[in-house]
Amino acid sequence: MPEPALDRSAIEAARSEFRARFDAADSDQKLKALHDEFLSRKSGSVTGLLKTLGTLAPEARREFGQLVNTLKTEIETALDEKRRAIESTRQPAGAVDVTLPGRQLPMGRIHPLMRVRREVEDIFTHMGYEILEGPEVEDDFHNFEALNMPPDHPARDMQDTLYLGAPIAGATWGAHRLSTHAQGAPSGVEGRGTVPDAQVRAATLLRTHTSAMQIRYMKTFPPPVRIIVPGRVYRRDNLDLSHTPMFQQFEGLVVGEGITLADLKGTLEAMIRALFGDVKVRLRPSFFPYTEPSAEVDVSCRSCGGSGCGVCKHTGWLELLGSGMVHPAVFEAVGYDPDKVTGFAFGMGMERIAMLKYGVNEIRLFYENDLRFLEQFPI
Ligand code: DAH
Repeated sequence: MPEPALDRSAIEAARSEFRARFDAADSDQKLKALHDEFLSRKSGSVTGLLKTLGTLAPEARREFGQLVNTLKTEIETALDEKRRAIESTRQPAGAVDVTLPGRQLPMGRIHPLMRVRREVEDIFTHMGYEILEGPEVEDDFHNFEALNMPPDHPARDMQDTLYLGAPIAGATWGAHRLSTHAQGAPSGVEGRGTVPDAQVRAATLLRTHTSAMQIRYMKTFPPPVRIIVPGRVYRRDNLDLSHTPMFQQFEGLVVGEGITLADLKGTLEAMIRALFGDVKVRLRPSFFPYTEPSAEVDVSCRSCGGSGCGVCKHTGWLELLGSGMVHPAVFEAVGYDPDKVTGFAFGMGMERIAMLKYGVNEIRLFYENDLRFLEQFPI
């Protein structure tokens, strides 16, 4: 009976098939698939070759068996080596790849209004002022009455007030400690901050100006006074190029023996030069119920150097703030003796300063948080 010829070509075909597929196997899954395809017990093609052994004559069987087993070992070794190679390059769980490029964090900037606020606070801290804040929800007494604006005073019409729908009973700021940012706060201030305001009043409105804090401070502390009060104020204005219903002010108040208009002028000139550099300053007579005399302070227009242009409406001057010598009626309302002390006060808008300083012509830009605007200011 003729024996079946020893067919090596099936082994060679399996070997070249494996080689061809092996290079592309670059993951555990692909190696496993390759293993199954060639070596799995049930369906592996090399296993299949071994299963044909029984059909061969004894001598051919041995030789064919050796050849197939060599191929089997070859395949196992190749798969094993590659599996180990892949394993050795794998990151341990939780490892950090220090070669990755760093992540760029977006850089924040200081808002232009905050820049102005810090600058003004710095200027006055250097002059020995205390910086403090007050409540935004106020009562009529502090916002108007004690500032020499009794209920039917026409000056109340100067500011359109936002009233609360329901008054907040017993809002008594006077009993709280002042928050102070000043490093060199006048000695003894801390202990005195707890003097209670005898008269507890219901808050009925949003303060229309930081001037309300003049009253709170003087009712709580005896003279001398040297304070700056930055903070938000509210008015019934519609949003337009130069108005917002909420904006920010600085109040300044200095009280002591022998304080004069010359002190007011010198102080404001020093501040304005620090803020705007070499500009001209002028005091223009004005009216505020809580100061007498009162003055509005103008600076020479930086756009035209004072010769007149569109920015300053061809006047050469830009209005910056209101100020004056504290009215004796205000001192009486807080229990100071107007025969002993005098003082000056001023109030100015933070946005106004920022607009002049940075050449911004719309107030609402400060509150829209448009990055194209904010990114124009240095970090
Ligand atoms: N309170 C005024 C306003 O909101 C500004 C002001 C004017 C404040 C004169 C003062 C002052 O302290 O003396 O427009």
